[in-house]
Amino acid sequence: MATATEVRVAPEDVRAAARRSERIPDPAVVVIFGASGDLTKRKLLPALFHLEQQGLLPAEFSIVGVARRDLKSSFAADMKDGILKFGGGKDGDDTIDNFISKVDYHAMNFDDDAGYAKLKSLLDKIDKERGTQGNRLFYLAVAPEYFADIINRLGEHGMAHPEKGYARVIIEKPFGHDLKSAKELNDDVNRVFDEDQIFRIDHYLGKETVQNILVFRFANGIFEPIWNRNFIDHVQITAAESIGIEGRGPFYEKAGALRDVVQNHMMELLSFVAMEPPVSFEANAVRGEKVKVWRAVKPIAIENTVRGQYALGTIDGQQVQGYREEDRVDPNSTTETFAAIKLEIENWRWAGVPFYLRAGKRLAKRATEIMIQFRQPPLLLFDRSGAGPCNEIQPNILTIRIQPDEGISLRFGAKVPGPDMNVCPVVMDFQYASAFGVNLANGYERLLLDAMLGDQTLFAHRDGVEATWSLFTPVLEAWAKAKPRDFPNYTSGTWGPKAADGLIGRDGRKWHQL
Ligand code: BG6
Repeated sequence: MATATEVRVAPEDVRAAARRSERIPDPAVVVIFGASGDLTKRKLLPALFHLEQQGLLPAEFSIVGVARRDLKSSFAADMKDGILKFGGGKDGDDTIDNFISKVDYHAMNFDDDAGYAKLKSLLDKIDKERGTQGNRLFYLAVAPEYFADIINRLGEHGMAHPEKGYARVIIEKPFGHDLKSAKELNDDVNRVFDEDQIFRIDHYLGKETVQNILVFRFANGIFEPIWNRNFIDHVQITAAESIGIEGRGPFYEKAGALRDVVQNHMMELLSFVAMEPPVSFEANAVRGEKVKVWRAVKPIAIENTVRGQYALGTIDGQQVQGYREEDRVDPNSTTETFAAIKLEIENWRWAGVPFYLRAGKRLAKRATEIMIQFRQPPLLLFDRSGAGPCNEIQPNILTIRIQPDEGISLRFGAKVPGPDMNVCPVVMDFQYASAFGVNLANGYERLLLDAMLGDQTLFAHRDGVEATWSLFTPVLEAWAKAKPRDFPNYTSGTWGPKAADGLIGRDGRKWHQL
């Protein structure tokens, strides 16, 4: 494999640049509702600790975990455990203990007014003791049915528009389960908080490789001129996971692949690939261009969708059970664990260029990739008789690897050494790991920092959420009406149902092998 990674940036330089960053937020308290859940321990605390390690948190900083259970005595130790296990922290490192000393816990029921009053007093006390200046970032890491209630009560208890400092709220997905519920939730939240206080999080936008799509397109001069229907044949976006539903039966039964990852993560990827250059890298400019893409997507015909559900099979040599056998899943469940969709964007840049999306659990491997296939040259001068070592001249393909093995590669034809003009595909490859030599942060790190800075560029706007739900709600409704008769229809450890090959095959194309 040819390597284009000639230029390497020393990891020390990458870290030093982060330390020189002026993006250091004002003093603040991060208040995490639903703090006893997995997200806090696995992602949020490790992410905040990494920010601290890089010197990106203010000295006056505090975290308050809020949940129903009485965990006061064990919470801080549990969070330390999370940093050690999931944040690469080392036991005995003083910086962890120092960081953990800023962690408090407050037990309350989310519908208990007295609990909110006590929370308010605790936050005021922290302000006095730690100089956090009345700034609060509320993180709702709770089940969606609690969103509206928590937000209302924060409002009623004077915590949404404080006299001193800011109040912001981060809302985890799923943001609604269809267009109607998303609108209602937006209305509920907007009644209490202004749009510039609301941070709807999609952790894909925090991934370096996702942000790099914009850098790749808009910080380089050579790609944008060919980034359109004149040169691009089609685009494939795959979010393949080899894991199953990981004990989240009750959640997943109500969600399914379309709601869980397609309406949000995959549509974010699509918008970054397809959007017009924004006038600046500023929240409204970027989010405005994304919404234009989603609004230009043609209503999705049901023939352009495929759904699937995994049956038992083998992954990495291990037998795994089928979806219907998973814990707390209906043995006759019709929830989809796989979705493939063909989208068409009806605008001047993309008319006629299909975007094929597929996402699924228990697929052959974990790989999230965007593949852009370019058109063949108008005339092929070189022999395609099959006499050379490669049978056909392949089109150019640009692959953006979101994860794992983060990077970008470009496939092109090269002359095979010898007397004939034979052509074989070769690959130029950029790998994050070898170019920068640092581990990529989990998406939450950047997003928590941005929320503390009040920067909404990488967060979803109300209009965007509603635009994507308007596209998928009719599909969900049609799917709900016509129950699938063939579920389970793919073996765990494969690439999904046969019909997904048919969806793209009908257009004379194939899924790219990952
Ligand atoms: C979450 C979904 O939003 O994203 C999960 O709820 C999915 O089902 C996860 O596994 C994928 O995220 P990542 O970062 O592992 O690609």
